[in-house]
Amino acid sequence: MKRIALFASGSGSNAEKIADYFADSTNVEITLVATNNPKAGVIERARRGFGRQTHVPVLVFDRTTFYETDRITELLQKQGIDLIVLAGFMWLMPGGLVQAFPNRIINIHPALLPKFGGKGMYGHFVHEAVVAANETESGITIHYVNERYDEGQIIFQASCPVLPTDSPEDVARNVQALEHRHYPRVVADVLQTMNY
Ligand code: GAR
Repeated sequence: MKRIALFASGSGSNAEKIADYFADSTNVEITLVATNNPKAGVIERARRGFGRQTHVPVLVFDRTTFYETDRITELLQKQGIDLIVLAGFMWLMPGGLVQAFPNRIINIHPALLPKFGGKGMYGHFVHEAVVAANETESGITIHYVNERYDEGQIIFQASCPVLPTDSPEDVARNVQALEHRHYPRVVADVLQTMNY
């Protein structure tokens, strides 16, 4: 059994797509949903359950626990987590956690990195910046996570056009459609390539 920990800070639509994708799998399990946000929509989604998995444990943690202790890393190790999947998780991963899971943490970013990445470039801010820069395309980047925002090795990108009349909301909608279409399959591909 391969075990995934999903980290999310917001609504969790990507987390849900990934969990749905593996819901009937006999060799991949969503072992844990983790969030820094007690009001995150992902909590309710996890409690409702994903497919056959009727209840997925949710871990809510605060900044002090995440950055100043090893408790999250230890818990993930104890649970035998193989892959940490960030799905709209907005905090930088601490160094100790990155080192404990080398090439075992992946993230999705709602733009074509290296453009529109880095601190402060997340969620809606990214789409606003893309429109303000008169870009003709945007898209998604799925990448390994290191100790710097959005700089890990790129695994997959997909693009969509940005029209001169598009608002940030239009871009967000098109980018999210790409995320939902590709992220679950890329997670499956990464699991396949991992050596045990
Ligand atoms: C997604 O668009 C994801 O790419 C973005 O947050 C959104 C979460 O949506 N992530 C980042 O900006 C990370 N820097 P969701 O909660 O509906 O999955």
